[in-house]
Amino acid sequence: MRTLVTNGHVVTAVDSYVADILIEGSVIAMIGSNLASVVGQVDRTIDAAGKLVIPGGIDPHTHMDLPFGGTASSDDFETGTRAAAFGGTTTIIDFAVQFRGQALNEALDVWFKKAEGKAVIDYGFHMILTDLPDSRMPEIKGLINQGVTSIKLFMAYPGVFLVDDGTIFKAMTTASEGGGLVCMHAENGVVIDVLVKRAVAEGKTGPKYHALTRPTRAEAEGVHRAIAIAEMANSPVYIVHLSCYDALREVQAARDLGLPAFAETCPQYLFLDYSYYEQEGFEGAKYVMTPPLRDKANQDQLWKGLRGNDLQVISTDHCPFCFKEQKELGRDDFTKIPNGGPGVEHRMSLIYDGGVVQKRISLNRFVELTSTAAAKIFGLFPKKGTIAVGSDADIVIFNPERDEVISAATHHMRVDYSAYEGRRVRGVSEIVMSRGNVVVENGEFKGRAGNGQFLKRSTFS
Ligand code: URP
Ligand code: ZN
Ligand code: ZN
Repeated sequence: MRTLVTNGHVVTAVDSYVADILIEGSVIAMIGSNLASVVGQVDRTIDAAGKLVIPGGIDPHTHMDLPFGGTASSDDFETGTRAAAFGGTTTIIDFAVQFRGQALNEALDVWFKKAEGKAVIDYGFHMILTDLPDSRMPEIKGLINQGVTSIKLFMAYPGVFLVDDGTIFKAMTTASEGGGLVCMHAENGVVIDVLVKRAVAEGKTGPKYHALTRPTRAEAEGVHRAIAIAEMANSPVYIVHLSCYDALREVQAARDLGLPAFAETCPQYLFLDYSYYEQEGFEGAKYVMTPPLRDKANQDQLWKGLRGNDLQVISTDHCPFCFKEQKELGRDDFTKIPNGGPGVEHRMSLIYDGGVVQKRISLNRFVELTSTAAAKIFGLFPKKGTIAVGSDADIVIFNPERDEVISAATHHMRVDYSAYEGRRVRGVSEIVMSRGNVVVENGEFKGRAGNGQFLKRSTFS
């Protein structure tokens, strides 16, 4: 299959120019002017005049089919990656989980089976580690050899995911020796647990108490500790879902010292805020996620962090639970509301609209934050994350002038509400290609379950 994309405004993290792109099979074969006159016959020509031609989005933080809080996230690898594709995301890195007592390979196999035959776009895995006696530490290198080059550790959720500081130190040492990267859920879960128990004992059981028992200082302390432990272990560290200025300052301080500390934030922390928990009745449950939504004043600081590269990546932490059947589990007790929200579909449009259209970030930075930086940090570059000869033809033809209104009535995620219901965004992914195959075109799905391939990622460098 040979496809010629003509006259598009090609944008990468560093370039911006009008050109034609020849795609041969799954890769970009040529970039230039007037390619029609030199490339001979093609199977399809796509006129991209007036459109942006950008690398497919990379969302390095999703949870498809995740067992959590007595239920499982409502998107599986088919519905979730399909929704991602509709929104211009062509790669996800999902979190496999090692549950207690499980060998790491055994845990990884479970996630291979979840994705196989289902994913419509390419995917990689991080591995959440919950049970790491010394005897299991060498298994981390086995994961890295299989292309699972990042692990996630939790400082929160005691009794479920939390691992102690000694374990974090040992895991960081082992991972960094093998070229792995540790992703950290940084919150002081032990203090939070005390606050949660106190709130429940005082009869404070509504959704807003999820936020009120997880102060920004708990996140900042976790970030500080994660970076300090990483420094002692001579290891890089990547802070996931950073939500607030308190925590950002810790990353800024570390980066100012030249430490290899990296961090992502997510659209929910840029566009939604604490007031969503104060809505009538049980509505606030839709926004019960961890960390919680913060006071609005944090948002400007996060945008500053994104501009100044103290935050390198925007992921979604897509972890949807249906409002009616799943969030409902915590109607009488916020601690039983499954933590997480939907987002994989709208990241590109939200960030284009709130970032580029609102003049908070440049077009190049938009591409960098939604695709290139994740590819570089997580060992996928230059196969993914850019438009260059030899790179995978994961390409989005993006209409920068078209508006769309986000709604659960029209979205493709398998969840019965939208966190952004009624929000109008400018910028729509009109044609989405995964390795040269069109998977979405003008609102229609053209891909196939199972076409997504597992990505064996390189080590961190
Ligand atoms: O609330 C969230 N974020 N759920 C997903 C699990 C996690 O901590 O990333
Ligand atoms: Zn987390
Ligand atoms: Zn997550």
